[in-house]
This record gives sequence, structure tokens and C-alpha cells, in this order.
Amino acid sequence: TTYKVGYLIGSLSSTSINRKLSQALVRLAPHELEMTEISFRNLPLYSPDYDGDYPQVARDFKKAITSSDAILFVTPEYNRSIPGALKNAIDWASRPYGTNAFARKPSAVIGTSPGAIGTAVAQQSLRSVLSFCNAPQMNSPEAYITFSLGLITDAGEVTVDSTAEFLRNYMAEYHQFIKRVLTVLPREE
Ligand code: FNR
Repeated sequence: TTYKVGYLIGSLSSTSINRKLSQALVRLAPHELEMTEISFRNLPLYSPDYDGDYPQVARDFKKAITSSDAILFVTPEYNRSIPGALKNAIDWASRPYGTNAFARKPSAVIGTSPGAIGTAVAQQSLRSVLSFCNAPQMNSPEAYITFSLGLITDAGEVTVDSTAEFLRNYMAEYHQFIKRVLTVLPREE
């Protein structure tokens, strides 16, 4: 069985190290995981005023979440929390009330920062949000990646063997987690 994994990169930066990390994860993922980026770059700022009539860009974004089997968050830490653009995207997908796209979606969080704690605080904050959104989360392994210059090449190759092995294992564990969750909670169309 193959699974469709949509991934959200929490950064809008053209030189994002988290985008590099996501490219590495795509390369290292088991072949059963079909990895597709879900962009939220063009979403306006969410307001409940949109609930009656979501703009097309938000419909498309939400559809990309609902049609995925699982969602992976690859995010930087901004001021010890989730980047605002990512939170905005999550808010869009969680609404209108009763149509939350994250419900029962097997999820995982990972991120990289030049800082020593490697996005740990942002990830904790994201986990709280995903809990409220009723997204089952892979608890372990956790992955706090301290980015050093050259760790991941532009082509998404990890240059440190132990880190490559760690990330490969992370994706293998995520595969198993998705399989387990979807066995007890099959997707509703
Ligand atoms: C940061 N950065 C940062 N790093 C960190 O480890 N903890 C933090 O709280 C913050 N806060 C923060 C706020 C803002 C507004 C910016 C722009 C940056 C540094 C951050 O880790 C670094 O810029 C990374 O390169 C961001 O990831 P991307 O965008 O390159 O994927």
C-alpha cells in the first residue's frame, strides 16, 4: 500500500533550510510514501468572514489536506513559536467549524534551525495546535535538527551519515505510524 503524504514547509523564505530538510526527507522516505508539498504561500489572512464562501485558493489548500492520507510539518521556529504564515494556514484548514481538515489525519512534526535546540519550542507549540485539531501525532521519534552550513546540499543530499540515517529512520517510523493509524481510523471520503 502506498500513502499520500502532504507536507507543509513552515517557511516562505527563498533560501529556507527547512525546504532543504524537506527535500532530504523526500529522498530518504520509504517508497510507500508519496510525498507532495502543500503550499500555503498565496492564502490571505484568515477571517471568519470567509466561512460562508471560501476563496478558491483556500478551497484548493483545504482539498489538498483532505485528500492526503497524512500530513508532515517541516517548520522553522519564529520567536520560540510557529511562524505566523503556518498558523494562518492551519486556521484556514480547520474551518468552517465542523469541517476541520486535520481531524484523524496522521501527522508528524520536524524542523531545523541554526540554533542548538533545533525548533523544539516551536514544535511543542505546533503539537498543541494539532492536538486541538484532533490530528493523531507521531510522538516518537522526535527530530530537532541543528542546521550547520552544508549539512544538506541544494539537491537535498544529507552530507553527515549519522544525520542521514536518523532522518531515514524518522521517515520509516512515520510510515509505520501512518499504517497503524489508518488501520484503526480508515479515511472517510
Ligand atoms: C528566527 N530564528 C529563530 N531560530 C530559533 O531557533 N528560534 C527562534 O525563536 C527564532 N526566531 C526567529 C524569528 C524570526 C522572525 C526569524 C526570521 C528567524 C532563526 C531561524 O531559525 C532561521 O532564520 C532559519 O533559517 C529559519 O528557517 P528557514 O526559513 O530557513 O527554513
